[in-house]
Amino acid sequence: MTRLLITGASGLLGGALLHRGLNTADILACTHDTRLHPQGFDTRNIDLAVEFHAKDLVAGFKPDWICHCAALTDVDLCQRQPKSAHRLNVAASGALARAAADYGAQFLLISTDSVFDGSRGRYVETDATGPLNEYAASKLEAERRVRGFLPEVLIARVNFYGWNLKPKRSLAEWVLAQLEAGVSVPGWTDVYFTPLFNMDLADCLNAMMARGLSGTYHVAGSERCSKYEFARAVAAEWGHDPEAIRPTEMATAGLGAPRPLDTSLRCDKLYRELGHVLPDLRTGLRRMRNFVESDLSAFRSLLG
Ligand SMILES: NC(=O)c1ccc[n+]([C@@H]2O[C@H](COP(=O)([O-])OP(=O)(O)OC[C@H]3O[C@@H](n4cnc5c(N)ncnc54)[C@H](OP(=O)(O)O)[C@@H]3O)[C@@H](O)[C@H]2O)c1
Repeated sequence: MTRLLITGASGLLGGALLHRGLNTADILACTHDTRLHPQGFDTRNIDLAVEFHAKDLVAGFKPDWICHCAALTDVDLCQRQPKSAHRLNVAASGALARAAADYGAQFLLISTDSVFDGSRGRYVETDATGPLNEYAASKLEAERRVRGFLPEVLIARVNFYGWNLKPKRSLAEWVLAQLEAGVSVPGWTDVYFTPLFNMDLADCLNAMMARGLSGTYHVAGSERCSKYEFARAVAAEWGHDPEAIRPTEMATAGLGAPRPLDTSLRCDKLYRELGHVLPDLRTGLRRMRNFVESDLSAFRSLLG
């Protein structure tokens, strides 16, 4: 079996990769503070921001693949603390990549659609980047840093939704919680993206690793939508009234860090490789609801 090191294994994506990879890979799941309950995989708590930890981790486990999901993902926190963002998102990614090069591991770096400035949307891999905030700048710098150690790195620029392992709310979970509390939900009509269900993303990333792909790929849902349309689709899928979503614009939210308006991604390069397209929004949300109804308790049992 492939030896797979997943960093950020308690996160929205790392948790999905762990859940989907359980019976097909020999997994070491790394988190910082969160305790996982090892059941058919090993787990380790480690602070990747401490540089020598990356080398120890890779030297000890000797993975075939490293799927590096750990990051400081709070955009406003990154804006206030750019050094912290750099330490984890750039320096730790570089240290892991250097260790991967030393020990012959292949490397999948999870990057973001936010590397683009959002002025145009429908981006392809060769389009010019232009990060608007510290988080996005640190993720783009991580791409460069890792490529410097590992020219053959596989980089996936993503955007996803789903159910969290931890008691933390993704956009879809937040929308549902608001609707269930009977509170009207603001939905941005001017912000566009191409979100993918996290379990579908995990399956796709596993397929990409199994094929031994390298280079930069956009890995996103096949439907571009606004956050408003996304929230309405979540409401409809769960049987709530979509009219409970209140159209508004991002500027009304008074956010700390500037954010791009349209980070929708085109995945033609990936589709040519896979031979099929990734799910559209409604298909993904239906799969998410099925997951919540049938798999959530098994998924949550991964938590220690
Ligand atoms: N969420 C999105 O829609 C989105 C969009 C585009 C790109 N991405 C990228 O996708 C990746 C995964 O994002 P996510 O939303 O799944 O992340 P997340 O839910 O915020 O989880 C972050 C993960 O990183 C770990 N971590 C934090 N600080 C650490 C440290 N110092 N040392 C080791 N591990 C540490 C956390 O462990 P603990 O639980 O122990 O703290 C957790 O497992 C990231 O690279 C992110 O930039 C996300």
